[in-house]
Amino acid sequence: MSNTNRLLDQFIELYGGDRAAIRVFHAPGRVNLIGEHTDYNGGYVFPAALTFGTTMLIRKRDDRTVRFASTNFPLRKDIAADGMAYAKEDDWINYPKAMFVHLGQRGYTFGGYDIMFHGEIPNGAGLSSSASIEVVTGYGLLATEGVADIDKVQLALIAQECENKFIGVNCGIMDQFTVAMGRKDHAILLMCGTLAYEHVPFQAQGYKIVIGNTNKKRGLVDSEYNARRAQCEQAVQDLRAAYPQLNLLGELNKTQFAESAALIPDETVRKRARHVIEENDRVLESVEALRGNDLVRFGKLMIASHESLRDLYEVTCKELDVMVEEALRTEGVLGSRMTGAGFGGCTVSLVEEDQVETFIRQVGEAYEARTGLKPAFYVADIGDGVTEISEGE
Ligand code: GLA
Repeated sequence: MSNTNRLLDQFIELYGGDRAAIRVFHAPGRVNLIGEHTDYNGGYVFPAALTFGTTMLIRKRDDRTVRFASTNFPLRKDIAADGMAYAKEDDWINYPKAMFVHLGQRGYTFGGYDIMFHGEIPNGAGLSSSASIEVVTGYGLLATEGVADIDKVQLALIAQECENKFIGVNCGIMDQFTVAMGRKDHAILLMCGTLAYEHVPFQAQGYKIVIGNTNKKRGLVDSEYNARRAQCEQAVQDLRAAYPQLNLLGELNKTQFAESAALIPDETVRKRARHVIEENDRVLESVEALRGNDLVRFGKLMIASHESLRDLYEVTCKELDVMVEEALRTEGVLGSRMTGAGFGGCTVSLVEEDQVETFIRQVGEAYEARTGLKPAFYVADIGDGVTEISEGE
């Protein structure tokens, strides 16, 4: 966090005073390595926290005004601590407001604060900038109010509630959980149905995770995301003819699904369900491959995941497909797939360390030639979940 000092200076320029009472918190973005569109089906995901994310500087005030500012956007706002309602024109400020409201519903009380955010995650790229700002706000507020031993799993659930109820995005738990619970150099194997989880060391000797941002604006994502969720619920209803107790697709294994898939009359719904069941299996296989240091197998599973998201779940788009295709054409690439909700956003690739520069150049040029869009690439290191950072770090 080499820029903490600079941010502290900016904070003082903005709000005055001195550094003494300012506290600084950070929550990362996330990348999902495999297990896409399984979280809201109670299945497995295998994401990791990034080393970049959202920093929050906060200082208590002696009145009840909360002042919001960001280094990324000109919009600033002063809002009464107990007047945090959703307002479209408040744009990004709705995310921290959501936390005030949803923590408030659990009995926490807040006063006034000067708050400044600094975001390093490109917005709308599918790297969880919204989960990051929600989680850092919740953690920062609770810590500032002296709450000891903040339960990060609960915080993730509250952040998901913020998205679902305040922002109106019907997402699963993966993003918020990762942002809250990430661990340096580890991916998280999370069973979304029970929230059982394990930090798995991500040892990819000689390989790097490279994130490719298509810079395609994720247009359809909200409506199509909800449509996919509805189709999964439809599949569960159909499959109840064989499994009356079934709640979520993630509860079925491949064999059970194969035996009962014919109960789903609609072909599209059947395809969606097949993706979920097989993707779930792929997550467990990938973790096994990683543990056995079999990165080649891990890469193949990433490719199979992308193909399934493209052909069965139909949440890719031309830009994502082109970027994955070009990635797989490049030497030293073991696997590549879309990551996140889809319909634009990012890909994730497993690239031989020595080939990373070539990868970025070649994939970048070919992608731009074929789509007319300029991509961006980030070589990802796996970082920690939400935390307080001290001055000068
Ligand atoms: C988005 C949602 C997550 C998850 C992914 C797809 O990132 O926020 O909850 O559903 O899409 O895997």
